[in-house]
Amino acid sequence: MPASSATRSRRKKGTANPPWFTQTLLHWHAHHNRRSMPWKGETDPYKIWLSEIILQQTRVEQGLAYYLRFVATYPTIAELAAADDEAVFKLWEGLGYYSRCRNLLAAARQVMQQFGGHFPGSYADILSLKGVGPYTAAAIASFGFGLPHAVVDGNVIRVLARFYGIDEPFDTTAGKQRFTQEADAHLAQHEPAAYNQAIMDFGATVCKPAAPLCLQCPMQKKCIAFLHQRVESLPVKSKKLIKKDRHFYYFIFRHQQQTLVRQRNSKDIWQDLYEFLLVEEASSAFTSNDQYLKKARKLLPATTSVVAAHGPFRQLLTHQTIYAHFVECTVDGAVAVPGAQWVNESAMAKLAFPKVIRDYLNKREAATQTNLF
Ligand code: ADE
Repeated sequence: MPASSATRSRRKKGTANPPWFTQTLLHWHAHHNRRSMPWKGETDPYKIWLSEIILQQTRVEQGLAYYLRFVATYPTIAELAAADDEAVFKLWEGLGYYSRCRNLLAAARQVMQQFGGHFPGSYADILSLKGVGPYTAAAIASFGFGLPHAVVDGNVIRVLARFYGIDEPFDTTAGKQRFTQEADAHLAQHEPAAYNQAIMDFGATVCKPAAPLCLQCPMQKKCIAFLHQRVESLPVKSKKLIKKDRHFYYFIFRHQQQTLVRQRNSKDIWQDLYEFLLVEEASSAFTSNDQYLKKARKLLPATTSVVAAHGPFRQLLTHQTIYAHFVECTVDGAVAVPGAQWVNESAMAKLAFPKVIRDYLNKREAATQTNLF
């Protein structure tokens, strides 16, 4: 069935009778949805925005603690806008996708400058904020202002694809349009916040990606995927993700209590986070301490020795896997290196590092107490 007629046949937009799908979902939300989260029922658009940015590409279980820390540290958008970038990055440390953090700061300052410190209340203005796409704008518009905009995310796509048996790939332009149309057609016009929350929670707790709870599902009797044994194969994705491996060798230069660090400015990953001097190789490149020492002296001629090498530590990113090695070196004097700085331990603790470096630092700290590293 073509998209438009499929949609028309079950939609009466804006009328008192929403589709069966919508009514069933709202009933489930009102009577059976047990998912409780601190931002549920929240109407302060600042806090809604904060929770939604944190939850982009992050599981609720992981995002929760970050949300609570952000709200406690910066209770208002004015306080966030006035914060030091470094302090905000430190609070974000471990969440990944750091462009979200950069955009968070930029948007907070945009609200102060462009909107007089008041979070904007129209969909178009919300969408104009840095880092806010259609999904986040719909969530803020509906939860914060009761505006009728449907969210479309992975949960929503999965629920709609299974219920209606839509096998159009969702990661194409046409597929995105199709799912957006479907989502709009099913929105409960008078209860957009409840509807959006319902479909997100339903996708996360009942119509889950793996092991969905079909036997307890209130949609089961009309769900095409269930009736035709297609639950496992829907939704459909067209592109297969190709991951590449990257091999990072971090040279950790130390002189007495000082360590050489620098702020990463490459655009690929981890922009603005801190790291040690880095050599990237096509594959595992070093086989002996002599080779490490040679490379270390190329980077910093005052290197006196290689004390130890650890790794690889692995970090999985969406499009790549990082294998990080850490080569600990001593240096004869805190010599100046362009673009880098020598910091002591307490200054280092305040810097935000990528997760793989933080893992190494934590392991080293634990080991210095047991002498095992
Ligand atoms: N994921 C993203 N936003 C969410 C929300 N408001 N509730 C539950 N899960 C979410």
